[in-house]
Amino acid sequence: MSTSQDKPQLIIDGKRLDGRGPGDMRRISIEANVLKNAAGSAYIEWGNNKILAAVYGPREALPKHTSDPEKAVIKCRYQMAPFSSLEDHGRTGPNRRSTEISKVIREVFENVVIREQFPGSEISIFIEVLQADGGTRAAGVTVAAVALATSGIPMIDIPYGVSVGKIGDQIVIDLNKIEDNYSDADVPIAIGARDGKILLLQMDGDMTNAEIAKGIRMAQEAGSVISKLQTDALRGPYLKISEKYDADDPSVPK
Ligand code: CDP
Repeated sequence: MSTSQDKPQLIIDGKRLDGRGPGDMRRISIEANVLKNAAGSAYIEWGNNKILAAVYGPREALPKHTSDPEKAVIKCRYQMAPFSSLEDHGRTGPNRRSTEISKVIREVFENVVIREQFPGSEISIFIEVLQADGGTRAAGVTVAAVALATSGIPMIDIPYGVSVGKIGDQIVIDLNKIEDNYSDADVPIAIGARDGKILLLQMDGDMTNAEIAKGIRMAQEAGSVISKLQTDALRGPYLKISEKYDADDPSVPK
C-alpha cells in the first residue's frame, strides 16, 4: 500500500501489469512430502513465490513453561531467506514483520489442529520463503496446511490462504509484490476449506464493507481451486503408486 504520488498505473485497459484480469490468480503448484527428515512437508510455487514448509511433532513442548497440560501448543516460524527478495533478509534474526506473520499463521492452525489429542506437546511449523513476490503469508498458510496434513496431525479442516485488494475502484485477487506495494488496499485472508470459517483477515489500506464482502467472495471462489490443488498434492504420491500397480503390469502379483 502506498500513498505516494508517483505510484505506477497497475491496471491498463482492464489488464494488470502481468496480464491478469482482476479476478485471475497466478499459477500455483504444490508438492507434498518433499523433505525426508520432517514429520510433514510441502513446497509451493505460487507465481514467483517459492515457499517450503516443514512440520515437526507432536513432541514434548520445550521449554517446559511453553507447554499446555490440556492441549498441544503450536509454534510457527515464518522466515524469508536472505536471497528471497531485493531487500536484505540475512543479517538480522526475526523482525517485526516476520514475528507478526508467524503469529497470525500460528493462530490459523491453532483453530484447525485437534490439539486436545496431544496435551503437553508442541507442533512446530517452519515456513521458509525462498523467493518472495507478494502474498507470502497466504501462500505460507496454504503450503503449511499441506505439510501438516502429510504429517498425519489431525485437523478439523485444511485451510487455504489468498489475498484480495483494491486497485483504484477495482477489487482484485492475488496481489503480487508491486500490486501489494502500490495498491489502495491489500487484504490477506485464510479460510477453512470445509467449514468456510475465516481464520485470518488483515487489512492494509481502506475498503468499504461492500468491497470487503466482494473480496471475500472472490477469495472463496479462488479457494475451491486452491483447495483442490492442496488435496491433489496430498493424493499425488498415492496416485503415483496406484498408477504403478497397473493391472497390465506383469510385475504386479495377481
Ligand atoms: O508477503 P505478504 O504479502 O504476505 O506480506 P507483505 O508484508 O505485504 O509483503 C509483500 C511483499 O513485499 C512480500 O511478499 C515480499 O515480496 C516483499 N517484502 C520483502 O521482500 N521484504 C520485506 N521486508 C517486506 C516485504
